[in-house]
Amino acid sequence: MDNKKRITHIVSTQKVDRIIADHQHNPGSLLTILEKVQEENKQNYLPEQSLDYIARELQLSKAHVYSVITFYSFFNLKPQGKHTITVCRGTACHTRGSKKILLFISSFLGFTKNQIEQATGPLTTEDFMFTLRTVACFGQCALAPVIDIDNKIYSHITVEQLKSTIESMRRS
Ligand code: FES
Repeated sequence: MDNKKRITHIVSTQKVDRIIADHQHNPGSLLTILEKVQEENKQNYLPEQSLDYIARELQLSKAHVYSVITFYSFFNLKPQGKHTITVCRGTACHTRGSKKILLFISSFLGFTKNQIEQATGPLTTEDFMFTLRTVACFGQCALAPVIDIDNKIYSHITVEQLKSTIESMRRS
């Protein structure tokens, strides 16, 4: 894949300043500021530069800011894809074929089996079109196998349905 496409996005300090000014006096301001800065980022993540800047402006230690980021799973430290696919790896979904689904998506998106097995977090395609995540359980076990695509739940999903869904996302 083309490495030239791996351009990452950083929110301008002017925008971060505005977000800080809007929220820094509210309770839980750090969490809100981090959320808003991540939302502003086209690639839905918090780059190191932004975190360093926020820590400095709020007079907090970097360690404190990073401890918040790593505590909440919705914060991302790496650029995310335009679309996010989350596969459930819970027992009910596993019993009903989630591993086959995960392997299918992985190879369809160009990830190797090793990348999936050794991944310690989400994987994003080189073109930033897709991020692939797994979750322990969506709490919808009766609908297994379950996946989530861009915050929409798909139940009793099959490889065939998934293939056409991903293909249409690629075309859009
Ligand atoms: S195991 Fe998949 S939704 Fe619970």
